[in-house]
Amino acid sequence: DHPFLRSAASGGVADAPLLARLRGEATTAPASVWFMRQAGRSLPEYRAVREGTTMLEACVKPDLVAEITAQPVRRHTVDAGIFFSDIVVPALLAGVGVEIRPGVGPVFEHPVRTAADVDALPPVGDAYEAALDPIREAVALSVRELGTTPLIGFAGAPFTVASYMVEGGPSRDHLRTRALMRSQPEVWDRLAAWVAELSGRFLRAQILAGASAVQLFDSWAGSLGTDMYAAHVQKHSAAVFAHVADLPVPRIHFGVGAAHLLAPMHAAGATVMGVDHRIRLDEALAQLPEGTPLQGNIDPAVLFTSEQARFAEARAVLAAGAAASGHVVNLGHGVPPDADPQVLTDLVAFLHEQR
Ligand code: CP3
Repeated sequence: DHPFLRSAASGGVADAPLLARLRGEATTAPASVWFMRQAGRSLPEYRAVREGTTMLEACVKPDLVAEITAQPVRRHTVDAGIFFSDIVVPALLAGVGVEIRPGVGPVFEHPVRTAADVDALPPVGDAYEAALDPIREAVALSVRELGTTPLIGFAGAPFTVASYMVEGGPSRDHLRTRALMRSQPEVWDRLAAWVAELSGRFLRAQILAGASAVQLFDSWAGSLGTDMYAAHVQKHSAAVFAHVADLPVPRIHFGVGAAHLLAPMHAAGATVMGVDHRIRLDEALAQLPEGTPLQGNIDPAVLFTSEQARFAEARAVLAAGAAASGHVVNLGHGVPPDADPQVLTDLVAFLHEQR
């Protein structure tokens, strides 16, 4: 019953123009769009169902996950759902002490900075596979709820997840993480390989349960220079993609402020590059193999401008993306919690009038 098994028949999820674009196939359909962080605090219906449940508790309640995943699709008629979860959910399921503090972000009980800290991480085996069951169930329920709208699964890339573990929580410049790579590269490698195993299995479980595409978030990779990325990070992100490379679904890779890393992030095993708003899509394309589909990259700041400025930006993004073999519209980064949902709904309607 998986979407890619149904792909031979027409009218199924696999025919969705958004997926055709992610595969780099030509289509005359209206523009395809979804938004990073489309589910979440910008929606009153999200705040209502989350009431009394912590973020990480919510992530292991399959019914609640499916409901939250579907909310922005119902409201905005975006062309894909993004699975409601978090990049630290795999660590939680593996048995690591982590919480998400509202307004702060993920905070780890024990920062991981030494060889002994890495030795103390739980093994990734049968117990972890069993702990993924609520995720499989939540994906299956979400897919059913979404009908012919595709579900995009996701995971956090080793650098971004490990940076929270090394720093202990959110950090501006990830100094301790970069210092660990430079001073104890073998400790860093063992930590990043551990995260890659968690994230890789998390992604694979989502695809096998019905996700039609996946996105690997290396949100903070932009704080790395090209040499550091090549020496210490690319192989670990490649290990995540290797977990799902045998499955016929598009693999999107995204980082913030990572314009200098587009080529090596693509070479890690992505089939589509997510691009933030700091670089034009046609400039991004010039750094990538011919025919690479792109996703992005409306500046989230236009959500707080006039409609005229917003639609002008949307048109400019579509024009720049036309050079790619497939282009799926998104924001350059996530929906800010204080964005007006009506602005997003109107932006989707506008995009659906464009080609
Ligand atoms: O709609 C979606 O995009 C799907 C769900 C999603 C969440 N987190 C839900 C969430 C996704 C794809 C993520 C990934 C994630 N989590 C990333 C990569 C994406 C990015 O934004 O670059 C990162 C860096 C995290 C870590 C994280 N989790 C942060 C920084 C925060 C925000 C903390 C805060 O309160 O400001 C979270 C919590 C989180 N993840 C929320 C949501 C909806 C807010 C929690 C709440 O509603 O209380």
